[in-house]
Amino acid sequence: MVIRRKPFAALLIAASLAVGVPAAYAKDAPAPPAQAQKAFDNKIIKKIKADNMYNHIAHLAAEPRVAGTEAEWNAVQYIEEKFTSYGYETEIQPFKFENYYAPKVSVTAGGETLSSNSFTYTPNGVVTADLVYAGLGRVSDVEGMDLNGKIALIQRGEISFTEKVLNAAKAGASAVIIFNNAPGVINGTLGEANDDYVPAVALSQDDGEKLKTVLSEGQTISATVSVTDGRIVEETSHNVIAVKKPTQKKKATDQIIVVGAHHDSVDGAPGANDDASGVAASLELARVIANMPTDTEIRFVTFGAEELGLIGSYEYVDSLSQNERDRIVGMWQMDMVGSRDAGELVMFTVDGEKNTVTDLSAAAGVRTGTPLTYGQEGRSDHVPFYEAGIPSALFIHNPVEPWYHTPEDSLDKISKEKLQETAEIVGAAVYHVARPDTPALERARVAPKPVDYEKIVGGIQ
Ligand code: BES
Ligand code: ZN
Repeated sequence: MVIRRKPFAALLIAASLAVGVPAAYAKDAPAPPAQAQKAFDNKIIKKIKADNMYNHIAHLAAEPRVAGTEAEWNAVQYIEEKFTSYGYETEIQPFKFENYYAPKVSVTAGGETLSSNSFTYTPNGVVTADLVYAGLGRVSDVEGMDLNGKIALIQRGEISFTEKVLNAAKAGASAVIIFNNAPGVINGTLGEANDDYVPAVALSQDDGEKLKTVLSEGQTISATVSVTDGRIVEETSHNVIAVKKPTQKKKATDQIIVVGAHHDSVDGAPGANDDASGVAASLELARVIANMPTDTEIRFVTFGAEELGLIGSYEYVDSLSQNERDRIVGMWQMDMVGSRDAGELVMFTVDGEKNTVTDLSAAAGVRTGTPLTYGQEGRSDHVPFYEAGIPSALFIHNPVEPWYHTPEDSLDKISKEKLQETAEIVGAAVYHVARPDTPALERARVAPKPVDYEKIVGGIQ
């Protein structure tokens, strides 16, 4: 069948919407989808069992799966075993990353202990010295000031925490206290480790203002800043890669499809929806597709250390040759696809533009009865693929549930219907490309600029 234009003739871009708000592929597309296409979809859809996905989540979300921990490794082994049992060639791809463990912090000033926080990446150190108020900590503030051996008291604002710490350290300060310019204690980061930092801690606006007032009256305040046990530890996480080579050797295209999810979770959260749900949907699609005839290579990849900065997916994309990158026609990332308390399924691309993945999936959504909208968002493993020039999209329910990144992200909040719906759409879209009778996709032509579509209402801004 012609997949280059036909399905999209039926899809009108309903309206141009502001960036960040999902744009709509028309729900009331006029041309009915071909029966033949639906029959192909059914080959996949009929086999998808929500119970299987639910059971995977039950297993994976028994405990948090923080990158680098034994729990993450247990998840990796579970996932790999499942892929192997469906007949896939699998690979566990290890990679190292630096994990930061927050220090113990205390601040006393004028004999009083104040409520404080560390800044991520502050060095350890215990410093007792007089406090000196150094304004906003800009170069112009500290210029000519005698901060030698002193603790600099700095107000939040205008420049980054990192710049404040570096400026004060350069002017001789032995430690830095930054106080808030809004209620509460700052929970901030210095971005990365740096040998030029001195111990840096945060105070509330109230406490900081009080100290500033006392200092402005000319009084001396002796303070102790104590930062201990902060550590940067090299740890190992893993990606799980399962590959299905084309079954149709003679008719095989050289194209590759990637279906992704992340198996790690944040500390303290069982991550039933984030993202055991995406892993479960990937496993179920892998099971269903395992014995189908295909002419396109399909790679199911579950990533480690997503929550620590998409580390696993960057690692995976880095490991691809340019030739492989060129052959990947699309990357489907499923992240948070099973919450009963979240909104509708949407597709997010990094640049907010539609692409091969959103086009194929929007068409699949129309056929399976769930028209999809799309919008702009990064924040998941589709980002490194996008940056490598590979069409990619994040499939997620929007708005997200209130349990996101909390201990309440647990199995009881999982909806089998939501899982089923997502797996059907992604399964139908992927199989549309991978089944033997579909001509090879030419990325650029399949995902034209809006002006290339046959019928357009509005456009994308
Ligand atoms: N599943 C989330 C991504 C997400 C959450 C996207 C809510 C859109 C709405 C993901 O696991 C996550 O938490 N990502 C991090 C960013 C990452 C670069 C560390 C985030 O959004 O804080
Ligand atoms: Zn996630």
